[in-house]
Amino acid sequence: MSEYVDDGHLMEVEERLKDQARAAEDRAQLERIGARVLGRTKGFGKLILFGEHFVVYKVPALVGAVAAYTDCECEVSTSGTPGVEVIDNRPAVPHYKIKKKDEGDVAIGLVLKHFGLDTEKKYSVKLTFGGDLTCVSGIGASAAQVVALSRALSYELPRPMTEDEINAAGYEGEKGYHGTPSGIDNTAATFGGLLRFQRTEGDPIFVKKQIKEPIRIVYASTGITASTTEVVGDVRAKKEADPAWFDGLLQKYCAIVAKAESAIDEADLVTLGKLMDENHLLCQELTVSCKELDDLVLAARSAGAIGAKMSGTGRGGLMLALTPTEESQNAVQAALEKLAPQVWTTMLA
Ligand code: MEV
Repeated sequence: MSEYVDDGHLMEVEERLKDQARAAEDRAQLERIGARVLGRTKGFGKLILFGEHFVVYKVPALVGAVAAYTDCECEVSTSGTPGVEVIDNRPAVPHYKIKKKDEGDVAIGLVLKHFGLDTEKKYSVKLTFGGDLTCVSGIGASAAQVVALSRALSYELPRPMTEDEINAAGYEGEKGYHGTPSGIDNTAATFGGLLRFQRTEGDPIFVKKQIKEPIRIVYASTGITASTTEVVGDVRAKKEADPAWFDGLLQKYCAIVAKAESAIDEADLVTLGKLMDENHLLCQELTVSCKELDDLVLAARSAGAIGAKMSGTGRGGLMLALTPTEESQNAVQAALEKLAPQVWTTMLA
């Protein structure tokens, strides 16, 4: 299914060696700066439950942060040669970091600019990114990175900031990864939890949802790294070419997300799952799904998921499945592992 799946064994051995090296580096990093500081630099990954792409057009979406996070250690000085050195120890699916490197450099530059650090003439900045969030299209790795960076700079300079100010700094960085971000990813990366998020002309509106029971999810990668800028741009072009078509989809989506929020409030997972299936259909109509995503969604449903959909940018990236029990989570995980290069489980709480 993906370009590297056939390299199986060699990849696995390489990954294991890299994991060991990363674990040693993480331990060294912890010893160097202490767990307390790393704790302050966390930016969480996220999974969009409802509303990718539609959220760009100022309608509500539902997003859950995952427990895995990116962290950042930062050293700022005026005595060294001006410039930025980035050490990227984040775990990632193959090709992700290469594909995202240029956008990542722009994003980091935008955050440094937001903090007023002139790295051309004055400041020498060394950034070390790590954490346990595996970077993959759809998980909000870019937002997790720029939020972790904003937290690290706030701590290092020091410049005490509110959580809203951290979120705003992260949003500036997100513009480097995708021109017109809705802000959903950086908000989830900053605040964690399950959020109802809505972009507005001004500051975004978001509320933390209280959920009665943690929501068990399996999520899987297609192995394809998508460009959010390109896919969001393409959706915009399609919307402009046929506004009535797009508006029809948007109206259907708005009805779905309103029901989904009630289902979460009532802990009605069966309804929530059906609504996820409906949201996936809309993503297909929007042309942001793809065969690889659709195959994984179907496999998850066949293995017992009570709902499944693509999540995030699409045209590659991730899908997620709603699995109400530990048994169904295990069964869906096992089924997806036969097809997908990477599969994870999480609990949204
Ligand atoms: C990307 O995680 C989500 C999109 O809706 C873009 C955005 O909201 O900025 C595709």
